[in-house]
Amino acid sequence: MNKKQVLFSGIKPSGDITLGNYLGAIKNWVDLQNDYDCYFSIVDLHAITVKQEPKDLRKSTLEIMAIYIASGIDIKKSTIFIQSHVPAHTECSWLLNCYSYIGELSRMTQYKDTSKNKDQNVSVGLFDYPVLMASDILLYQTDLVPVGEDQKQHIELTRDIATRFNNLYSPTFKIPTPSIPKAGARIMGLQDPTKKMSKSDENENGCIYILDSDDVIRRKINKAVTDTVGIVQISDDQLGVKNLINIYSVVTGLSFNDIEEKYKGKNYSHFKKDLGDILVAELSPIREKANSLLQNKDELLKIAKENSDKANYVAQKTLRKMKKKIGLISL
Ligand code: AMP
Ligand code: TRP
Repeated sequence: MNKKQVLFSGIKPSGDITLGNYLGAIKNWVDLQNDYDCYFSIVDLHAITVKQEPKDLRKSTLEIMAIYIASGIDIKKSTIFIQSHVPAHTECSWLLNCYSYIGELSRMTQYKDTSKNKDQNVSVGLFDYPVLMASDILLYQTDLVPVGEDQKQHIELTRDIATRFNNLYSPTFKIPTPSIPKAGARIMGLQDPTKKMSKSDENENGCIYILDSDDVIRRKINKAVTDTVGIVQISDDQLGVKNLINIYSVVTGLSFNDIEEKYKGKNYSHFKKDLGDILVAELSPIREKANSLLQNKDELLKIAKENSDKANYVAQKTLRKMKKKIGLISL
């Protein structure tokens, strides 16, 4: 029997999980877990590259873990773990720092976007974020990294660092490939459809959170910005409606064409009401299951512990290989 290929992905516990995270990432992972040996991490060390309240960080970390499981990630098939429970990630990061260049890190768009308009100082960690991400991926000899469009540049950098290391010594890392979903790769804000829906959105109504109540989901869809054209169609002059059609399509599997046909001659409020119902049907079972898992923190921590033992074992193997090639003495 052929060994399964390895898949790695993660989400930062830097706020509440959004519909963008769910449609751009988690929903696809659930489909992929039968075909790959999967690692899904809650990347808490990435979250602290910008300021976090300790109490909120703890809460978000466990919430993401519960949402992963409630969305259908099966802990018997996949490894779900908290990044800081596997020290190899930070150790590998230091080693890879010595093979990463300031020039290439300075070109990362996420770094440029997050560091501009900051009134506080920008941390070294924020600059170094992509090297920690490369460590996450490379330690597991990952083949595939399913992420939203915004992360593509980080995966390209990971490939560059891995290739550089392999060429300098000898083959050590698998060269990973990004997998960007065709649909759902970029869910935009409901209040500003020119910006991606993001956990850090200042406008609450711009973002649907996975743990939002049914009423709140419906209200946010009703309030989503549209236009005065009044036709449910895909058009670059109607970015708000385009985003809503995209969300509709990813959740139902209907094509843009099917949706345009279905709502021919119907107004936006009719379309929005249906979309609200569709989202409630998709998200409310996940919310209920996640909330019930969160009632039993000890059980969640037990899962985290067992899974991190497995992740530790695999990660250490790669780390030992790296150290040996670099010339560090092992005992
Ligand atoms: P983050 O929230 O930055 O930790 O992102 C976690 C995952 O969700 C990554 O794979 C992102 O690409 C994906 N993601 C985040 N926001 C969106 C969005 N608005 N649309 C699609 N995917 C997203
Ligand atoms: N940087 C990713 C994001 O913002 C999160 C992340 C950290 C990640 N490590 C990863 C994603 C490894 C995929 C693989 O979305």
